[in-house]
Amino acid sequence: MKDLFDKIYKDKGPLGKWADQAEGYFVFPKLEGPISNRMKFQGKEVITWSINDYLGLANNEEVRKVDAEAALAYGSAYPMGARMMSGHTDLHEQLQNELAAFVKKEAAYLLNFGYQGMVSTIDALVNKYDVIVYDVDAHACIIDGVRLHQGKRFTYKHNDMESIEKNLMRATKMAEKTGGGILLISEGVFGMRGEQGRLKEIVALKKKYNFRLFVDDAHGFGTLGATGAGAGEEQGIQDDIDVYFATFAKSMASTGAFIAGDKEIMDFLKYNLRSQMFAKSLQMQLVVGALKRLDMLRTMPELKAKLWENVNALQSGLKERGFNIGTTQSCVTPVYLKGSIPEAMALVKDLRENYGIFCSIVVYPVIPKGLILLRLIPTATHTLEDVEITLDAFSAIRERLENGTYKRLSAAVAEAMGEAV
Ligand SMILES: Cc1ncc(COP(=O)(O)O)c(C=O)c1O
Repeated sequence: MKDLFDKIYKDKGPLGKWADQAEGYFVFPKLEGPISNRMKFQGKEVITWSINDYLGLANNEEVRKVDAEAALAYGSAYPMGARMMSGHTDLHEQLQNELAAFVKKEAAYLLNFGYQGMVSTIDALVNKYDVIVYDVDAHACIIDGVRLHQGKRFTYKHNDMESIEKNLMRATKMAEKTGGGILLISEGVFGMRGEQGRLKEIVALKKKYNFRLFVDDAHGFGTLGATGAGAGEEQGIQDDIDVYFATFAKSMASTGAFIAGDKEIMDFLKYNLRSQMFAKSLQMQLVVGALKRLDMLRTMPELKAKLWENVNALQSGLKERGFNIGTTQSCVTPVYLKGSIPEAMALVKDLRENYGIFCSIVVYPVIPKGLILLRLIPTATHTLEDVEITLDAFSAIRERLENGTYKRLSAAVAEAMGEAV
């Protein structure tokens, strides 16, 4: 009989297999110093384009003061126990009420983590007779939530209305047979490519098909819509989102998350969400910190305005210089280049070492072979000077990519990785 660990000794997984070449630099890099537009990487200052601190709250002085005072007042233990048992407080309720009002829903419920909360919410909303319809490019938390589902599920082609309708038709037939309902799950903003989910068109299909819409708006919350209520507000259909989700890990620059919707549905989730029923309540310093952050989202529209000034400068600058930034409709700014994985590694190294630009890199299998995706996340802390420096650096690296510099530089890397350049 095999030892359980045999497979692990042999195969470290699709990402883990690159650990020797990539760890500490391309993956698990250590960015040092306060979270901001400029941080330190391996002792050198870099312009940081890889952190979802959209509104620049992570290192805001007032926010840090409130966080510190809350930690002093409550420590990190309080309250102990699950919400249902002994972990419930007035401030948890107040935060829920304020979040609900902010996203224009009747009620909200707090989640300890976005990922775990999404998985659990999907699990709680459906039973084995129900059918789930979701985008093939959905975030891992949606995919993993769907994995728990014991009934039927259909994926549709990414943001493709024809495919959405076709799968709603199939789901309707199936649900009529099983006697269940349909849950359609989309993201408000797809975090890798920056496209918004086609929520308005999906909502229009509610006239033809009977389904409920669940939106993961991790990247839309605080960044989109007139008041920052997210992709639904931006597209004018916030009321038609049946269950709204956002994490505190991006615009709110913290930890935690929430869902919002009709009171009756939130009341149901309160009693059925296993991630919250069987886990310790969100700790108080995070609750107090979230109240402060939410207040800033509400009362300081200049943060969102500055964010968008940077987004527009960066995205229009890239386009003017002929870069392919795909079809982004959000702050997420992808830059697509052509090249192999070793070329991508050489290019990123050049960007970091010689131009002081730190951004995330995405390669095959996340995107098609032969493409390199550099993903930039502008924030309110960036300056127009940061944007200019970055645009110049991108022009320089594109030239080197096209004239084969990285191909040559990467030869050694390719050899080490056993992959043809
Ligand atoms: C689309 C999306 N959903 C959910 C999550 C998970 O949220 P959290 O970091 O709070 O677990 C993320 C990442 O943070 C995300 O990008």
